[in-house]
Amino acid sequence: QQLPLEMHKVRIIQKLNLLPIEERRRAISEAGYNTFLLNNSDVFLDMLTDSGVNAMSDQQQAAMLIADDAYAGSATYTRLYNKLVEIFGMTYFLPAHQGRAAEHILSRSLVKPGTYVPMNYHFTTSKAHVTAMGGEVLELITPAGLEVTSTNRFKGNFDVAALERLIADKGADAIAYVRVEAGTNLIGGQPLSLANFRQTTEVCHKHGILAVLDASLLADNLHFIKTAEPGCEDLSIPEITKAIADCFDIIYFSARKLGFGRGGGICIRDESLYRQMRGLVPMFEGFLTYGGMSVREMEAITVGLDETMDEDMINQGPQFIEHMVSELDARGIPVITPAGGLGAHLDAKRFLPHIPQPHYPAGALASALYIASGVRGMERGTLSEQRDADGVEPLANMELVRLALPRRVFTLSQVNYAIDRIAWLFSHRDLIGGLQFVEEPEILRFFYGRLEPI
Ligand code: F0G
Repeated sequence: QQLPLEMHKVRIIQKLNLLPIEERRRAISEAGYNTFLLNNSDVFLDMLTDSGVNAMSDQQQAAMLIADDAYAGSATYTRLYNKLVEIFGMTYFLPAHQGRAAEHILSRSLVKPGTYVPMNYHFTTSKAHVTAMGGEVLELITPAGLEVTSTNRFKGNFDVAALERLIADKGADAIAYVRVEAGTNLIGGQPLSLANFRQTTEVCHKHGILAVLDASLLADNLHFIKTAEPGCEDLSIPEITKAIADCFDIIYFSARKLGFGRGGGICIRDESLYRQMRGLVPMFEGFLTYGGMSVREMEAITVGLDETMDEDMINQGPQFIEHMVSELDARGIPVITPAGGLGAHLDAKRFLPHIPQPHYPAGALASALYIASGVRGMERGTLSEQRDADGVEPLANMELVRLALPRRVFTLSQVNYAIDRIAWLFSHRDLIGGLQFVEEPEILRFFYGRLEPI
């Protein structure tokens, strides 16, 4: 088997703690069996997310020193704006402090009560913003996307026929916009093919419906198109990016996935749409030339966007994830296949068949893995769902523990440590029991809800 090979070297390090197991048991109990509530000083390998925790490059650090401090019209903003125009080819840009702030602006401007927002799959914050405006999210993922184990390389694909049927059924006017999520987060960081981006958005354009791309996880998706889509092997990463961007009216993103603590924004093709949304930026984010970001962040994002166009910079994440998934799979541990972007995803339904879904198997597995290893993962299952208008808790399609691999942060031996501990836990899975809420917040409950063993 081919091992990943890093095309970078480490020049700054952070010392880690590996607490004794008794202290890990105490820490997770104090955190209400919710890995979001652990202190990072109690965590050995933080695989909670790849958001805001990716390693920065020397070029990004250097760029931060030349940031141009100005409330309005800083040269830094102009550099960021020019880079976005170069990469995506859209004339207008609205900056925001992170991805969900962009979602807030979009849904506030475009979602009316009773309208629908079809998506290949929802993301927690994107759904919360649509429903907060009285809209309804409809998930039109191709059936392959919900198969936990598969050999389909493009499991994130939008079900184009289902979109056609929906438009015929509800009418184009009832659809606020179509949201396409590159590197579909909640089903295992699964990519869409360039062909599918094109087919989905062609349907939108035919019916005069706005096509919106969530590009937060686009970098991994670019890698998969380049390496696995027939006919794309000779396209450069910038060419693939431009081909995708050309399909859309709006592209928004969280820049936290690019290696910074903050940042995001909305690229817009059409001037009238830009004017429609523009007023919300000074109201909620900050002036139009920073939108809640610091100039240092904007400088680093500009360089990060450029580095995302370099295959050697974006392939490390997918290669490490591929290694982790294939090693786990070889040990008989249930994981989402094929390996996607973002991280490795344990399938808690098969890992813990003795725990019923209302007892949150994925939440229980995330807690148990922390106790067994000091590795912090994230529940991506029923806990991460929101109750419907009648207070009924929907059971998630998948019960996953996501082990994110922040880009260029962990070494292969650390990944191998995690694999070894997961294998130990799998052979002792009878020890794990379910969880119940002791404190359940109404909105985005998975972030700060507290639980206890049943
Ligand atoms: N869209 C996608 C696909 C995301 O993965 C995220 C964040 C957002 C939007 C929201 O962006 O965090 O900057 O406000 N995903 C993080 C994660 C939180 O851990 O998966 P944000």
